[in-house]
Amino acid sequence: CGIVGYIGDKQAQDVLIEGLSRLEYRGYDSAGIATIENNVIRVEKKKGRLKNLEDVLAKEALTGRTGIGHTRWATHGVPSDENAHPHYSVNKEIAVVHNGIIENYMVLKEELKAQGHVFVSETDTEVIAHLINENYTGDIVETVQKVMKKLKGSYALGILCAKEPEKIVAVRKDSPLIVGLGDGENFIASDIPAILNFTREVYLLDNGEIAVLTKDDIQILNINGEAIKKEIFVVDWNPGAAEKGGYDHFMMKEMVEQPKAMMEALLSRCCENSESFGELKLNAAMMENINRIQIVACGTAFHAGMVGKYYFEKFARISVETEAASEYRYKNPIVDENTLLIVISQSGETADTLAAIRLAKECGAWVLAVTNVVGSSIAREADDVIYTNAGPEIAVASTKAYVTQIGCMMLLAAYMGRLNGKLKEADSTRIFRNLMMTPGLIEKVLDTKETIKAFADKNYRINDLFYIGRGLDLYTCMEGSLKLKEISYIHSESYAAGELKHGPLALIEEGTIVIAVCTQENVFEKMLSNIKEVKARGAHVLAIVQEAHRDIASEVDEVWVIPEMDDDITAIPTIVYLQLLAYYLAVARGCDVDKPKNLAKSVTVE
Ligand code: G6P
Repeated sequence: CGIVGYIGDKQAQDVLIEGLSRLEYRGYDSAGIATIENNVIRVEKKKGRLKNLEDVLAKEALTGRTGIGHTRWATHGVPSDENAHPHYSVNKEIAVVHNGIIENYMVLKEELKAQGHVFVSETDTEVIAHLINENYTGDIVETVQKVMKKLKGSYALGILCAKEPEKIVAVRKDSPLIVGLGDGENFIASDIPAILNFTREVYLLDNGEIAVLTKDDIQILNINGEAIKKEIFVVDWNPGAAEKGGYDHFMMKEMVEQPKAMMEALLSRCCENSESFGELKLNAAMMENINRIQIVACGTAFHAGMVGKYYFEKFARISVETEAASEYRYKNPIVDENTLLIVISQSGETADTLAAIRLAKECGAWVLAVTNVVGSSIAREADDVIYTNAGPEIAVASTKAYVTQIGCMMLLAAYMGRLNGKLKEADSTRIFRNLMMTPGLIEKVLDTKETIKAFADKNYRINDLFYIGRGLDLYTCMEGSLKLKEISYIHSESYAAGELKHGPLALIEEGTIVIAVCTQENVFEKMLSNIKEVKARGAHVLAIVQEAHRDIASEVDEVWVIPEMDDDITAIPTIVYLQLLAYYLAVARGCDVDKPKNLAKSVTVE
């Protein structure tokens, strides 16, 4: 979900709609705004795309210079006009937008019903509006403080009060919220892009903090109402960084940005041809006490974690467990003060990943986060942070964040290998030099766009797609398969090629497309055998190989080639082929590439 709020001299509706359009990337199923004018709160909200809301507002605008807006992604109650935010008390004296989940809302709702409150939605958020109304003391800030003590769960809130029309009150607990500083106007938002066109100066609210905005002033208070002095955080994203920049989709823009993103990720860690992690508190002495490394993440970041495990084991000879955060948090993991937990998260807000951090920290583990978003919850809760520096990623399907995550994991593994003496200086230099070649290698794959588009245009009617690979290539297959499912809705499987004959071979029929990723020399011959197995069952095989194996063409139906390179870095250019393939298949099928159905960019709820 996304939040935006405005107080100033402009018509709030215009700023809110602009802000909400910047938040569309978060994934949503409904949108709404509320404004105040002459002590009257007015609300408009609509299921579906922002356009639906805009159409209603075009007929009758919500005037007023103070307002809050929201894009919702359903958690409690189906997507509908009623369940969309803002929610308000029946007398419309209080309106609220909310990200997060109120865990005790059923109990609160029953209490409020007994006091005569009538509810119109199925949401947990509506309870907050009623609760504030019920507890209103004549001072909205004091009331919010009181109500916060009754709420269990996570929330970022933007609140309007009809009796105090010159204010917006905002609070956060376990759900991100920022306050934007303007000149004679101020803002709230769940994410930076929402207000990037209006201001670059923000406060990052911490848990339990309350912001009281008027048009000329911002006060930040703790839960007891004491004023807090906050530092201004200046956002240094380039103008247009959060825009499509002339591409049809954010996803294409972000794929094209991958060489630059990779360079940014590497350059900040480059020191005399070797990696350096000056930003880390974790040092050699601390590493000596670490006897277990766990990598935890979700979605695409989880696949980067699989690649990371491979590098850690290869370069530092440390055995690593990689696990999905949603599994890790509920399985009573073996974690203690000798554990290093590495979490990977593009957004830095994924609820399961955050929960894994908290769990591991309680057990005394050292937590190192690899994330793309400065000031995100994960960045702030971890003991150490490595920023991937990929710039804002808007498309739901992660691309540039993934390659930078892999780059950072490779550097980190090499760094650990040097700390524990398992990696020789010369090898570490070689790894670094190889990585520095990846921006150019990605360019080479991007240059083949037309070939991939042509393949997609010919094959977009397929129902299934299979990816097979071994070693590092298997993780590329997993990520390629995820990209395809996410944006083109084509069913796909990624399989360890050696496991084919234990099941999936039964699914291969005449014409089934199998993508065989064969970039690892040590298993190349094995892959050839697997290709023969599927060919014998009628598969149409597309192989991805390094230049030296171009002659695989005689064995398969199509070949996509990556230049010659060290086997350790093939995961980076190869995934770009699979991202482009997913993209062009999705476009050919008429899918909403940047905002796939049922998915969200940032999964801040369980
Ligand atoms: C969602 C996104 C994915 C992302 C995953 C993890 O599912 O759609 O693109 O990989 O969350 O997100 P994170 O921000 O933690 O990397």
